Amino acid sequence: MTLQATDFSFVTQMIRQRSSIDLQPGKEYLVESRLAPIARSLGEKDVGGLVARLRKGDSSLSDAVVDALTTNETSWFRDTHPFDAFVQFLLPEVAKSTMSRQINIWSAACSSGQEAYSLAMLLLDWLPSHPGYTVRIIGTDISQKMVERARSARFSQLEVNRGLRAPYLVKHFDQSGRDWTLRPAVRDLCRFERGNLALPPTNVPTCDIVFLRNVLIYFDLDTKRTVLSHVRKVLRPGGYLVLGGAESTLNLDEAFQRQELGRAVVFRHTGGAA
Ligand SMILES: C[S@@+](CC[C@H](N)C(=O)[O-])C[C@H]1O[C@@H](n2cnc3c(N)ncnc32)[C@H](O)[C@@H]1O
Repeated sequence: MTLQATDFSFVTQMIRQRSSIDLQPGKEYLVESRLAPIARSLGEKDVGGLVARLRKGDSSLSDAVVDALTTNETSWFRDTHPFDAFVQFLLPEVAKSTMSRQINIWSAACSSGQEAYSLAMLLLDWLPSHPGYTVRIIGTDISQKMVERARSARFSQLEVNRGLRAPYLVKHFDQSGRDWTLRPAVRDLCRFERGNLALPPTNVPTCDIVFLRNVLIYFDLDTKRTVLSHVRKVLRPGGYLVLGGAESTLNLDEAFQRQELGRAVVFRHTGGAA
């Protein structure tokens, strides 16, 4: 470990300012191991050299540093139960209560897009038996690299092996060399944009369902509250918020009511304030 305490503190402050991610002392090894490849690619002998460049205000490097320090772990139909609840309860429920027959879903912190595309594939099963409905999925992430990967809709064999059901691979993907590319029917339901959850959402329409999974865990309490207040701005009253298995709105935002649906837990926006 060669990372100086002052360099660690400089990086954690920069990450907090740009992404609100809370990197506590103890994460020195993570910072060093993730930044070392960037330092090497610049010809620096260690991460200290990279931090010196950042200190001089080399802003072109900050995106790469934020990208390297965010965890982009995701998979198809991750954790299964939220997607079962989506088909069996959330979708019928919002379809019943929407006047316009337009259903909008936000995959917030979408990483490389597997969550948004998993929802799109389920919607393509549902739409033929529900004529008159249209659906839109918007995926947002702070990482430009992830947004571009999601837009490309191209996935490696390793990635498709993670949770994708075989019939969906056959039905919705084309093989491109060693990778797999999603067909237009699925892609056309989804749009991906860059967005920081710590800032009020722009380019996100009023939504019926928000998937905000496995990202609140990286924020401190104040940021969690801020992010939930931003979700409330676009989630219509009566709409549903789906969080990661280790996340809750409890003690953070009283406008959400916890509901158990089979083996999934969702949070209904009651329309009240925090
Ligand atoms: C662990 S992944 C979760 C992906 C997906 N939601 C899932 O559950 O599979 C967390 C994602 O949050 C994104 N992220 C981190 N901080 C963010 C912020 N402030 N605003 C928007 N996205 C953020 C990261 O870039 C990363 O892609």
